[in-house]
Amino acid sequence: MRSQTDSAGGLRHLITLDGLTREALTAILDRAETYRRFPGQPAYEGRELVGVTLANLFFEPSTRTRASFDLASRRLGAHVLNLDLHSSSRAKGETMLDTIYTLESMNTDIFVIRDSEAGMPEFLMDHVAPHVSVISAGEAHLSHPTQGLLDALTIRTHQRRFAGLKVAIVGDILHSRVARSTTRALQTLGAGELRLVAPQALLPSENEFRGALRFTRIEDGIAGADVVMMLRIQKERVAEAAALDEAAYFRDFGLDARRLKLASPNVLVMHPGPMNRGVEISSEVADGPRSVIREQVNNGVAVRMAVLASIAATLTRHRRPL
Ligand code: CP
Repeated sequence: MRSQTDSAGGLRHLITLDGLTREALTAILDRAETYRRFPGQPAYEGRELVGVTLANLFFEPSTRTRASFDLASRRLGAHVLNLDLHSSSRAKGETMLDTIYTLESMNTDIFVIRDSEAGMPEFLMDHVAPHVSVISAGEAHLSHPTQGLLDALTIRTHQRRFAGLKVAIVGDILHSRVARSTTRALQTLGAGELRLVAPQALLPSENEFRGALRFTRIEDGIAGADVVMMLRIQKERVAEAAALDEAAYFRDFGLDARRLKLASPNVLVMHPGPMNRGVEISSEVADGPRSVIREQVNNGVAVRMAVLASIAATLTRHRRPL
């Protein structure tokens, strides 16, 4: 894969967290903390993206990622274009690359892309002009880098360290890009123990998630955990999911208050959303005192601001002179 950084080490694209160093991830998290404002506080307003045009191209549904890229880029002064599948010419058979070239001709500088096709962000990164950047907002089951970063920021805020942490990810790991990117972030940042908890059919092969422990009983997987991250069943990627017995799944793998007592008393309960209440998590836990699910959403805006500001700073070095 072509490098995501330029020769000076500046972030040019963000397709995957693979290959990014601990220092690079830490710098993004540190920058995100300076942008973070809590609900009720005035949002950060800056000029880091003045003169930059950003296109949000979401060809899969999204609430959190799309809204936060939109808010993050506007709060830093960018022009923002939101295009979706139903209103774009891709629905008439135009290739993704032609859509990108069309918008490039309108001086778009940054493309934020969510797509179900594996390899699409990297393909586009290889074809855009030198002054243009591509950010993945979710690639098939493979990668969701800004989600991995916002999860890491949420954990760092509460636990203050990664070393020695026991992190359990529970649910449909096999089809989850969040599990892949969050695991990558936490491993790079030095998390102590990563546990994957799922029915056997939803655990990934041993070739992936190297170094992680695997469990097929939730009680074993969350025992003593400092972080429990629940995932939904990715129905859009699992043909058999239509026949899922949701009550049976909740009985065997759902996180309720009784099971949560097995984890550390200071456990953080996380979920990337969208949640299916009563399927993978009870409302009592999702809305309970150990839940940081809404903080994850808040951190999502700050992390996307940090990524966009880093990329915009690099782009200025690659722009054509007037
Ligand atoms: N976590 C996440 O990617 O949520 P959305 O699908 O709503 O963007």
